[in-house]
Amino acid sequence: MQNAYLEKDKINPLSLANIREFTQRLWKDFLDEKSFAIDATCGNGFDTLFLAQILGEKGRVDSYDIQKVAIEKTKMLLSEKNLLHKVHLIEKCHSAFLRPASLVVYNLGFFPVSNQVVTTTASLLLQSLEHALSFAKAVSITCYPGHAEGKKEKEAVEKQLQLLPPKLWNISFHSWINRKNAPCLFWLTKQSR
Ligand SMILES: C[S@@+](CC[C@H](N)C(=O)[O-])C[C@H]1O[C@@H](n2cnc3c(N)ncnc32)[C@H](O)[C@@H]1O
Repeated sequence: MQNAYLEKDKINPLSLANIREFTQRLWKDFLDEKSFAIDATCGNGFDTLFLAQILGEKGRVDSYDIQKVAIEKTKMLLSEKNLLHKVHLIEKCHSAFLRPASLVVYNLGFFPVSNQVVTTTASLLLQSLEHALSFAKAVSITCYPGHAEGKKEKEAVEKQLQLLPPKLWNISFHSWINRKNAPCLFWLTKQSR
């Protein structure tokens, strides 16, 4: 029998070569068109754009970044695609969110086109995660252990997530184990009761 998921989206199971593609598939499966999502690190705006594309007119994305340049880049990208009306851009640290949402996504690390090296940090991430876990139904955390702060973040998040009760949260970990310092993903979904 054909796998229903592959049939539905015509996915080539051999194409999972890239972490962004992999995470975006999980988000797409999880969200419905009226969902609210949070992009906790908007950067260039690629993840925010993807979320705005898959959500319907009643959906919404709140996108956070501490750098003005990231907020402006994301604004420009979303305007070009006529999707800015679905997105609320917030120039603010993700340690506390203004509104809840069913999905929170973190794509950690630094803003790739900026000269300034402003990277996410383990301590702010843990604060943010605690807040996200109080309302979200799913959380996606992409880590880049190939740089020093990224390694710290990955280890800190892993330690924290191991403490969460399995009756409340399903937590899986994905990586490309034959690549040195490959990015990795923690994918959390709340148990439905
Ligand atoms: C790897 S980039 C995100 C990539 C982005 N999602 C995309 O699709 O292009 C990480 C971003 O996190 C931002 N950042 C760092 N610390 C932050 C914080 N405490 N709160 C919110 N954003 C933060 C950085 O400014 C940077 O733009």
